[in-house]
Amino acid sequence: MNTIEPKLDYIPNEIVSIDDYESFAKSRVDANAWVYISSASADEITYRANKQAFDKIHLLSRTLEDVKGGNTKLNLFGQEYAHPIFLAPVAYQKLVHGDGEIASAQAANAMESCMMVSGFSSTSLEEVSSHSNSPLWFQLYMQIDMNDNLFLIKKAENLGYKAIVITIDAPIAGIRNKEQKAGFCLPSHIEAVNLRGMKQLTLDLNSTQSSIFDGVMAHSPTWEDIKFIKENTKLPVILKGITHPSYAKKALELGIDGIIVSNHGGRTLDTLVPTIDILPKIVEAVDGKIPVLLDGGIRRGTDIIKALAFGASAVLIGRPIMFALATSGALGVAHILKILRDELEISMALTGCKTLKNITKEILF
Ligand code: FNR
Ligand code: LAC
Repeated sequence: MNTIEPKLDYIPNEIVSIDDYESFAKSRVDANAWVYISSASADEITYRANKQAFDKIHLLSRTLEDVKGGNTKLNLFGQEYAHPIFLAPVAYQKLVHGDGEIASAQAANAMESCMMVSGFSSTSLEEVSSHSNSPLWFQLYMQIDMNDNLFLIKKAENLGYKAIVITIDAPIAGIRNKEQKAGFCLPSHIEAVNLRGMKQLTLDLNSTQSSIFDGVMAHSPTWEDIKFIKENTKLPVILKGITHPSYAKKALELGIDGIIVSNHGGRTLDTLVPTIDILPKIVEAVDGKIPVLLDGGIRRGTDIIKALAFGASAVLIGRPIMFALATSGALGVAHILKILRDELEISMALTGCKTLKNITKEILF
């Protein structure tokens, strides 16, 4: 049995990039938590491909431009953001650090980022919001009972959350073989506290009916339900988990306010297309009418500038939050945001981009 090393209250000199956090995290959580935060679906082809796809794109340097006074600011849905590096919704953050989502909110606040709070957050929406002045978005996993969805959305509205993100790519959990082999289970003290008392369905693989089609999927949301939510909130509604251009078009038709191109970091359906490869087609389908964000494999400032050059407005990071949290709590999460922002600014400086608007396909090869 490996011993679990204590959390760090400083940043060691060896941690200078996002990936450096991974090995520090691994020795600071139990095997159960590790398999949950680090694994992906089936053969993990999409998980690896997300990163590899970024690495295949090359940049062109432009170093004699005047970038004095440049900045990374953006405006989304009427709200100003200091930079385009957001925290993706990541469930059960208390699995890896006692402070859980509170630590991430503190880091987002210190680093002027936007945190998306998971529908499976292990901390209440109230508590998270009391630790951040920076914008928070609420990520909704549609519940079976529509009244539960309305209840959650109203709560987010009343607490001052700035947007509703509906994750549509995981109505059923992906096949995660590593979790199966390790016998992953959520410890009894970690809970999706915001969903307490709400009706949940579980897969019954012993049933004579298809527990997939007649069970969980019989209750999974459809476009009608998305439309209903859109009509029942004053907040911007953003769909997360789009890789099909026809879905981007359909979202536009329904008046959806934004799209997150995502394959859930390769955790749902393996062999889904890498997000950066499909981004141009989604951007084309949306035709500038609503913002398009992207996640999956963002580990470097150069990944961010490539996503922005292909038309993304902002990017999200997922696993790095858990690796940093597991290593050193709020300090770690703040540090990864700082690293990525510095790397983005250097990438902008060396490609001659003074502001995010100057980041175009001109810098790509
Ligand atoms: C996730 N992701 C996720 N997405 C979501 O919409 N709601 C959720 O509750 C979760 N939970 C979750 C837990 C863990 C441990 C991981 C790693 C991921 C997906 C997440 O928001 C994001 O799409 C991916 O993590 C992005 O890919 P990278 O940055 O991990 O490569
Ligand atoms: C996950 C779910 C919670 O990726 O979205 O684990």
